[in-house]
Amino acid sequence: MNTSDIRIFKDFDALAEICLQWLIEKTTQQPVVAIALSGGSTPQSLFKALKGKDWGKVNMHALRLFWGDERCVSPDSSESNYANAKRALLDALPISQEQIFRIRGENEPAVEAARYAQVLSNQVAIQESFPRFDLVILGLGEDGHTASIFPGNEALFHTREWSVVTQHPQTGQQRISLTGSLINNAAEVVFLVTGASKAPLLAELFLPHRKAAYPADYVQPSNGRCRWFIDPSAASMLRI
Ligand code: 6PG
Repeated sequence: MNTSDIRIFKDFDALAEICLQWLIEKTTQQPVVAIALSGGSTPQSLFKALKGKDWGKVNMHALRLFWGDERCVSPDSSESNYANAKRALLDALPISQEQIFRIRGENEPAVEAARYAQVLSNQVAIQESFPRFDLVILGLGEDGHTASIFPGNEALFHTREWSVVTQHPQTGQQRISLTGSLINNAAEVVFLVTGASKAPLLAELFLPHRKAAYPADYVQPSNGRCRWFIDPSAASMLRI
C-alpha cells in the first residue's frame, strides 16, 4: 500500500462533493455505471451528506447499485446494509427500483450467493471472466476485514467464485460477500475509513515493506485503482 493512494477528507460534506463530481463525470461518460456499496456504519454519514446534495447533473438512468456484502437478515432489519442505505439516501433519489440490486439477506445464504452471482452476470459487464464494477466502495474492520472477508478467508482473493457465504468470527452472523477476486477486477476501489479506532490499523497497513497480514492487504485491483478516503481521526497515526 502506498500513502500516495490516501486522500484525507475534511468532513463528509467535502467527501460528498467529491463523490458527486465522480458520479456526474461517470454517468455522463458511460451508459451504465455499476457501483457496489459498502456496509457497516461509516457509509451512513456519507449517504446522509449525499442526500443533501443536488443530483441534477447526474445521469441517474446510468446508475446500477449493488452491495459488496450483506448480512443474512431481513431487508428491513437495522442490521441490513441495504435497509440503511435505503433509509439514509436511496429513498430520496430519483432512481427506479430496477436499478437497485440488493442482496436478499432473508434468503437461504448459499442459494442467495448463487442468485446474486447470476444477477451480477446479467447486470455488470464481464471482463477477465469476472464482473467489472466501475466502483467498489469498501469499509475496513478493526481486524482488517473488508466487505465480509474476515481474517483467515484470504483465499477468497484467489477464487473463481463471485459471491460467497461467510460468517462473522465474533457474532457468528452469516454474510453474503463479493469475493476478493471480484473486488480486484474493479476499475476503481475506494476504502472509506473514519474514526480514531481505525488509526492504529491504518498506521500498520501503510508501514513500508510489511508482509500482507489482513484481508484488506489483498485488495490490489489487477487493472484498476485503489484509493483510501480517510478522515483526520483515522489518519492521525499515519506518517504522510
Ligand atoms: C459490513 C461491512 C464491513 C464494514 C466494516 C467497517 O457489512 O459490516 O461491509 O466490511 O465496512 O466492518 O464497519 P464500520 O464502518 O461500521 O466501522
